[in-house]
Amino acid sequence: MEIWKRIVVFEMMLSLGLMGCLVNGFGGGGGGGVPQRRCWFPAVYNFGDSNSDTGGRSAALGEVRPPNGETFFGKPSGRYCDGRLVIDFIAENLGLPYLNAYLDSIGTSFRHGANFATAGSSILPGGYSPFFLDIQISQFIQFKKRTIALYNKLADTNQVYKDVLPRPEEFSKSLYTFDIGQNDISHGFQYSNVSQTLQSIPKMMDKFSQALYQLYGEGARNFWIHNTGPIGCLPTSVAYNKDNHNNVDNTGCAATQNRVAQEFNRQLKTRVLQLRAQLPQAVFTVVDMYSAKYAVVSNAGSHGFQDPFSFCCCGKKQMANETGYGDPCSDPSRRISWDGVHYSEAANLILARSVMYGSFSDPPLPVAEACR
Ligand SMILES: *[C@@H]1O[C@H](CO)[C@@H](O)[C@H](O)[C@H]1NC(C)=O
Ligand SMILES: *[C@@H]1O[C@H](CO)[C@@H](O)[C@H](O)[C@H]1NC(C)=O
Repeated sequence: MEIWKRIVVFEMMLSLGLMGCLVNGFGGGGGGGVPQRRCWFPAVYNFGDSNSDTGGRSAALGEVRPPNGETFFGKPSGRYCDGRLVIDFIAENLGLPYLNAYLDSIGTSFRHGANFATAGSSILPGGYSPFFLDIQISQFIQFKKRTIALYNKLADTNQVYKDVLPRPEEFSKSLYTFDIGQNDISHGFQYSNVSQTLQSIPKMMDKFSQALYQLYGEGARNFWIHNTGPIGCLPTSVAYNKDNHNNVDNTGCAATQNRVAQEFNRQLKTRVLQLRAQLPQAVFTVVDMYSAKYAVVSNAGSHGFQDPFSFCCCGKKQMANETGYGDPCSDPSRRISWDGVHYSEAANLILARSVMYGSFSDPPLPVAEACR
């Protein structure tokens, strides 16, 4: 389907062509509310796609270029956004530094976790990115094994090196977060059709469950899982759907795309119910990111946003010998979408505030209390 090709091409342009600076190790931290029964999460390990990639794809496959990062970091930070992502606001809320990408070899610290998410990643292999979920899990397993061995080998005089490593005993106390599936759906639309995409959802769920089992086997106990967003509300989806008036919902989103996302989420919920029964030692929190995002899009005006289907970045700009991307809108904080596919920092802040305190979660606990 045409629209999916466009989204992909757009995402590939963003991720491959553009260049920028490396993200520095630590920013921010602190902030957020202080619930009564806070868990103590020493670290966060995140898995996913561009919704939560803090520099993995940029380090591995091509730098993210300006004006990405302009609002908060003042320079590109490896994120497909003008500023922070929901995972960054979660880190702030937990009093932790922003997550460094596992694939980033420069100036990184993994003392408080690592980010295995990379833009374009899917649950199933054969999608847009080599770093599908299985690979992210095997990266984590290797990361855990090697950092523990290194930590135990380093003498106390090597404190400088130890300080950038996780503590071996902290893996089972950490929070394991997920935001993945959107690229499985868009890849399905692009290379097959709606019914085939729907038919492949159980396979996605098998792989997802398997990943959680593997992490559980590694000692992970606290799981925070974002379901997939309303992909039909992305400006690129809406733009390429606009002649198909039968396929528009009340808000103006592409209805079929959203129906597939909802079916994905329905099956995800069922799978997590099974996991809860099978792995009673673990805590699984499912966050209804679909509803949180849909609420922002359908109430854009009340949040101070302009047309929810417009986006901020970026017009094509012919530079000397290459095509660059520049001239973002003057005020990204008035747009929900940064680039047609990824949410702006302003929208991410609203989303983070919506989901961090439990009102979209099952069970309805704040992220800071999502532990045993
Ligand atoms: C989807 O694709 C399959 C395989 O090519 C085909 O058999 C099926 O009829 C298609 N379904 C629709 C609704 O187009
Ligand atoms: C464009 O590329 C050509 C060939 O590599 C080079 O000679 C020229 O100086 C470049 N122009 C600019 C403005 O960089």
